[in-house]
Amino acid sequence: MRNRRAALAALASAASLALTLTACGQNSEGGSDDDKGGSDGATIGIAMPTKSSERWIADGANVVKELKAKGYKTKLVYGEDDPDQQVSQIENMITQGVDALIVAAIDNKSLNNVMQQAKDSDIPVISYDRLILGTENVDYYASFDNEKVGELQGGYILDKLGLKAGEKGPFNIELFAGSNDDNNTKYFFQGAMNVLKPYMDKGQLVVRSKQTALNQVTTLRWDGGTAQKRMDDLLTSSYRSAKVDAVLSPYDGISIGILSSLKSDGYGSASKPMPVVTGQDAEVASVKSIIAGEQTQTVYKDLRQLAKVASNMVDAVLNDKKPEVNDTKSYDNGAKVVPAYLLQPVSVDKANYQKVLVDGGYYTADDLK
Ligand code: GAL
Repeated sequence: MRNRRAALAALASAASLALTLTACGQNSEGGSDDDKGGSDGATIGIAMPTKSSERWIADGANVVKELKAKGYKTKLVYGEDDPDQQVSQIENMITQGVDALIVAAIDNKSLNNVMQQAKDSDIPVISYDRLILGTENVDYYASFDNEKVGELQGGYILDKLGLKAGEKGPFNIELFAGSNDDNNTKYFFQGAMNVLKPYMDKGQLVVRSKQTALNQVTTLRWDGGTAQKRMDDLLTSSYRSAKVDAVLSPYDGISIGILSSLKSDGYGSASKPMPVVTGQDAEVASVKSIIAGEQTQTVYKDLRQLAKVASNMVDAVLNDKKPEVNDTKSYDNGAKVVPAYLLQPVSVDKANYQKVLVDGGYYTADDLK
C-alpha cells in the first residue's frame, strides 16, 4: 500500500497479531487492512501557485472539499508566484510526512529536487493543471485539453471577424501568451496558432508589431500589469495610424490588463470599437466585463471537475488502484510521458454565459451582478 501511515499501521497490527498469536497460541480475527479503500486518516499536501488569481483560490478550496469528503486531512499552501517559496513549502510538507502531494507548479522546471525528495519518501505526486517537467517523479497529471483551449480562442477570433464566413480582411491582430515557465503556455499558443496561422500566412490577419514568435509574446507569471504595459507599447509603436481588430489573450487576468490599455487609448467607443479580446478561466471580473461588452470571450474550465479528477487520482494511488486516465500520449515532460486525465474546455461569450455558467451552477446570477 502506498499510504505510508496505513502501511505502518498495518505493520504494527501485524506485529501485535504475531505477539497475540505467540502469547495465546490461537488464531485471531486480526487481518491486515491492505485491501480496504478509503483514507486511513492520510494527509494530502496541496501546493497552489498564487492567491492573486481567483481561480487558484477556487482550486484550493475545491480540492480540499473533495479530499475531506473522502475522509482525508489536507494541508493547503500558496506559493505567491515565487518558485523558491513553492519549493520550500513542498519540502516542508514532505518533512511533515504528508502521504501524497497535489502540485500546481509556479515554475515547471524548478521542482526536480523536491520531486526527488518526494520519491525518496514514497510520496506520490499528482501534477495539477500545469505539468511538472524534467522529472520521472510525477505520477499522474490532471488537467484540461490545453491545446484545445488555444484552438477555442483562435477559432473564436476567426468567427467574430467573419473570416470563417468569407470575410477577406485584412484585420489587425496582436498576440499574447502566458508565462514562459508554465508548460501550458506553449499548448495554448500552439492551439491558437493552429487556427490563426493559415490566415496570417494569407495576409488576412496582420500582426503589425511583427511579434509573432512565442518568446516575443509571453507574459511572465501571467501578470496583467505586464500585459497592459506591453499593449501600451504595441499601440504606441504600431497603431498610431491603424486600429487593432483582435487581441489573442490566453488568460482573463491578462485580458484585464489589455483592456485597460485599450480603454486608455480610446477604444470602446462607436468610432473606435473594442477589438475582439479572448481570455481563459471565466473569472467573475471577466465574465462581468463580457456582459458589459468589453472582453469578448473567455474559455471556461470547470474547476470543480478538475478537483474531483485530482482527488480521485490521489485516492486511487493511495489505495493501490490505477487512477482513471484518458490520455497517455500528449504530455511528455522530458523524462516520461505522464498519464493524464484531460477535461474539456468550453468557449463562453455573452451569448452563452447564462446557459453555461449560471444554469450550469458555476456562478449564481448574483455573482455576476
Ligand atoms: C495556467 C492555467 C490557466 C490560467 C493561468 C494563469 O496554467 O492553465 O487556466 O489560470 O495558468 O493562472
